[in-house]
Amino acid sequence: MPAAVLHGFVTFEGIDGSGKTTISRKVAETLRARGESVFLTGEPTKTWTGEAVRRSYKDDVGPLAESFLFLADRAAHQDDIRRHRDAGELVLCDRYADSTYAYQGARLAGVVDRPIDFLRRMTEPWLLTPDLTLYLRIPAELGLRRIADRSEKVRFEELRFLRRVARNYDALAKGRRFVTLDARGTPEAVAAMAIAAIERRRASRKR
Ligand code: TYD
Repeated sequence: MPAAVLHGFVTFEGIDGSGKTTISRKVAETLRARGESVFLTGEPTKTWTGEAVRRSYKDDVGPLAESFLFLADRAAHQDDIRRHRDAGELVLCDRYADSTYAYQGARLAGVVDRPIDFLRRMTEPWLLTPDLTLYLRIPAELGLRRIADRSEKVRFEELRFLRRVARNYDALAKGRRFVTLDARGTPEAVAAMAIAAIERRRASRKR
């Protein structure tokens, strides 16, 4: 099958500790070994806008300014994503717009009315929409246990907050763009489910 047929844009989402980084790497490796052209990327990006984002949650600028920084990083990043996708590559992205809906949706509670709707209105007019979003679902308690040794993480990973984020993801994942994967298993098992979901979505797009 020619690589051009296989292009697309797939995002990996889930709470901290859900394994997005490990799984997206494994999926990229497996597909590359099959001869596919894969562009693996993620957010916050490694550019200066991504650095600004990381700084914003170390030196707290407040939920509203932080939200705008995540969106600015995404606005810049999506040009890059579009370029790779249009060149016929399969783009895999570790976190994307749903992270903002889930996390800033929780952070903006009490700051604006209906935070997720607010963020959607701010985003949808310009957003490059993924063809498929893989939601790696785990309980907040397990996420917290898995990241216990990553000490640099501060505010984002408190249990109550992560539970709220998980609830937001559960609601978002009812959309047709999503496939929910049980991410409690081994990385090998979860990566295999992720690849199967990508293949199913491609097969349905070709029909
Ligand atoms: P993470 O995926 O852990 O990236 P890294 O380990 O490379 O810094 O993301 C960092 C944190 O940022 C994570 O707790 C989730 C949060 N986040 C948001 O709150 N909103 C967003 O839009 C994104 C992309 C991430």
